Amino acid sequence: KAPPGVSVDPLRIVGKELKFLSKNIRNLLGSGHPMLDKVAKYYTWSEGKHVRPLLVLLMSQATAACNNSNHSSNHNNSSNSTSSSSSSSSSSQPYNISQPISSPLVLADANPDTSPLTAPAAELEGVFGEDPNILPAQRRLAEITELIHTASLLHDDVIDNAVTRRSSSSANTQFGNKMAVLAGDFLLGRASVALARLRNPEVIELLATVIANLVEGEFMQLKNTASDESYPVFTDETITYYLQKTYLKTASLISKSCRAAALLGHNNTPETVEAAYSYGRNLGLAFQLVDDMLDYTVSSTQFGKPAGADLELGLATAPLLFAWKHNPELGALVGRKFGQEGDVERARQIVHQSDGVEQTRLLAQEYADKAVSAIQIFPDSEAKNGLIEMCEKTMKRRK
Ligand code: FPP
Ligand code: MG
Ligand code: MG
Repeated sequence: KAPPGVSVDPLRIVGKELKFLSKNIRNLLGSGHPMLDKVAKYYTWSEGKHVRPLLVLLMSQATAACNNSNHSSNHNNSSNSTSSSSSSSSSSQPYNISQPISSPLVLADANPDTSPLTAPAAELEGVFGEDPNILPAQRRLAEITELIHTASLLHDDVIDNAVTRRSSSSANTQFGNKMAVLAGDFLLGRASVALARLRNPEVIELLATVIANLVEGEFMQLKNTASDESYPVFTDETITYYLQKTYLKTASLISKSCRAAALLGHNNTPETVEAAYSYGRNLGLAFQLVDDMLDYTVSSTQFGKPAGADLELGLATAPLLFAWKHNPELGALVGRKFGQEGDVERARQIVHQSDGVEQTRLLAQEYADKAVSAIQIFPDSEAKNGLIEMCEKTMKRRK
């Protein structure tokens, strides 16, 4: 346990667990069609931050610490770590996850020669990691969250006409829109199979809802405001609408996967599950607010993706909305999605002369603080410190 003031590196805590993530994901994404195989795996080769799987793994560890009364991290690891593949009734596992995942029950049309989903050994490779406090199902959940996120990026880059992603060519630039969209659909399909194989209806429902929420958020974003007027005025509802969109687009995946991680743990109380959800919801909102702020404050090179892109895309995000509150003239620009000559420059100028960026940072800080409070009920552990550190990192990040 880190003493107060000494920072822990969340990446180090679950670093070993994350090592196999991209490899496991590629195993889930194998296709007999060489081109589909290539496009589907394209973003798994770039250096993503793996924020979502990292949170799932930390939450799995931190909530395991909630149930440590009879078998704990004080215990010698060896008693649990070797038993996971042989003992299906081990007290550390509510059910034997290796059975459903490796069962020959596969999609009717899966090609046994080419689909890794039909090769149990390959499929399970790395799923049993080193920490006995993380269950195989929770590791698989971490992979599923990254798959859903990556699918949404493939589609998002088509919608946003993005040229770069993670400092490289975006998939749509590299392979064209049609293949990028289809690859995203393929990822969702494989994520769904892996999800079904967790054999937990509540977790399936949560993650399926996330997929619907991502689309709902993206649809809300197509319009900047609830009203469809050419000259919208700023109201309290403007911010509410933006936050609802932000929840759906970003915080839903983070909050529901944190909740699912707690649900997959053994004997977690409803209070623990609720705390995991609340942490994810608040951190997710902070995360997107910071993202929207960085779009105004960092260079494209630092960001790894085009900066200042939101206005160009016609999007009014938090910094602009807060500026709009005191600059009613922005309404006309919002109404026409910054589409007239000079609109983008004018809007950017008004935002930078206002306190919009600072208000955004303050609101993000409020949510980050709420995320930290949500998990105060967890017993002290390295993973809990890691979750707290993730809130600090979210506020400090530049990319
Ligand atoms: C990135 O936002 C995009 C998202 C957080 C979600 C996008 C969701 C869809 C495209 C709906 C379809 C969903 C699925 C699961 C297929 P951004 O454009 O603000 O961020 P960026 O700067 O990283 O591109
Ligand atoms: Mg985008
Ligand atoms: Mg987008």
